[in-house]
Amino acid sequence: MTPDRVDELKNPVVRGRTIRINFNRTHISPERLMDKFVIRGGNPLVGSIRVSGAKNAALPAMAAALLTDEPVILENIPDVRDIQTERNLLVSMGAEVENPEAAYELVKTMRASTLVLGPLLARMGRARVSQPGGCAIGARPIDLHIKGLERLGASIRQEHGYIEASADRLRGGHIIFDKITVTGTEDLMMAATLAQGETIMENCAREPEVVDLAALLTKMGAKITGAGTHTIQIQGVDKLHGARHRIIPDRIEAGTFVIAAVLTGGDLSLTNCDPSHLGALIQKLQECGVNIRASTDSMRVTNGHRLVAADIVTEEYPGFPTDMQAQYMALATQAEGTAIITENIFENRFMHAQELVRMGANIRVEGRRAIVRGRTPLSSAAVQCSDLRASASLVIAALVADGETILDRVYHIDRGYERIEEKLKGVGAQIRRIGEILPKRAAAPSVVA
Ligand code: EPZ
Repeated sequence: MTPDRVDELKNPVVRGRTIRINFNRTHISPERLMDKFVIRGGNPLVGSIRVSGAKNAALPAMAAALLTDEPVILENIPDVRDIQTERNLLVSMGAEVENPEAAYELVKTMRASTLVLGPLLARMGRARVSQPGGCAIGARPIDLHIKGLERLGASIRQEHGYIEASADRLRGGHIIFDKITVTGTEDLMMAATLAQGETIMENCAREPEVVDLAALLTKMGAKITGAGTHTIQIQGVDKLHGARHRIIPDRIEAGTFVIAAVLTGGDLSLTNCDPSHLGALIQKLQECGVNIRASTDSMRVTNGHRLVAADIVTEEYPGFPTDMQAQYMALATQAEGTAIITENIFENRFMHAQELVRMGANIRVEGRRAIVRGRTPLSSAAVQCSDLRASASLVIAALVADGETILDRVYHIDRGYERIEEKLKGVGAQIRRIGEILPKRAAAPSVVA
């Protein structure tokens, strides 16, 4: 990273679209913390929404820029709070990456900050990264990241809430992940690009975001094969160079709007998306009776379907995505019959269920299973957002509910959805954001997940 990268970082020019993101939007000003959405239900979503770039592809791509001292230009970056947090993290390390440290203050607001560990270690030979700490949807340890880096020759100590890692130069190795991990695969793939020799990683994640990261790294000069399969091979190189890369569309944002359109009985087109990344969701919705037409870069949901319940089990890609589970639960409350939702990825990802019940849904949670009996009319209520995707599920339910629903703590949704209320308003939703002036002393709570 060179000095002009600082300018680029502060005011990134994203090819094809210029975004000037004011720097201090990372830390939510106290007022914004208490932003709420007020949603009046009952309006079908009609029209077209342009899908943004994928948060979960942009975050590792920004970390990958640490692997080179040349500029990396990323296009189609979503203007969401997690991106601003990552930006602050990169800048806090300085243009020349003077201090390869990811501070607790930033990491506690976003777990994906741990994605800088592999790149920093590979490029700088040392890294100090705060332990991410707890999360609303599960324990989410990063032991597999650490084990993998140790297999590449790193020595790692964990003390005072930080991971201290060092290695003269990482060396290629054989890694078999105990469990499929998305950011674990990404972190180790980045680290291995500058390691001495060949690395073979098995039981890797196959998510489109992993494939997109491999595409960027390859443009930077990395030698990677097998991304998108369970086995990835990386031939280490001495140096990587700059590149320009367009981030893939956000499949979870697209899936969220599809379900909102289905439940409001709308007629919605989604552009700038990639339906091939949503195979499991589209198939499941068709099983529920949904009319959905897809082309290579757009989708259209039309109304006039009678929804029938269908069970889902969340799995790693290409299975049903856990990041669509909450939104699917909102759909199941409006489908005829009983749907059993099994959450296999995270141990505590049903926080939205109780809020949906407060709106009139019939849901019983038993450990990792939720039994949803539909169809039950939803009515407006004051509900609380708890994490990113749970919030999306409550927005969808409010768009269907009778009356005006008030969603509290929508800062959770700002983390991963770019101007969602404007996009929804643009296709006929009655939604507005209200802020509450908080007395100055209110401390910024740490944001989970
Ligand atoms: C990524 O998180 C996504 N985040 C998550 O999206 C997504 O829910 C998740 O993958 C699963 O698809 C980003 O890409 C930034 P994992 P990640 O490591 O990589 C366990 C959203 O809503 N595990 O694949 O952190 C872990 O606890 C977010 O946008 C270990 O035990 O998830 C979980 O049970 C939420 N040790 C399972 O593996 C490890 O070292 C899968 O987690 C790592 C993971």
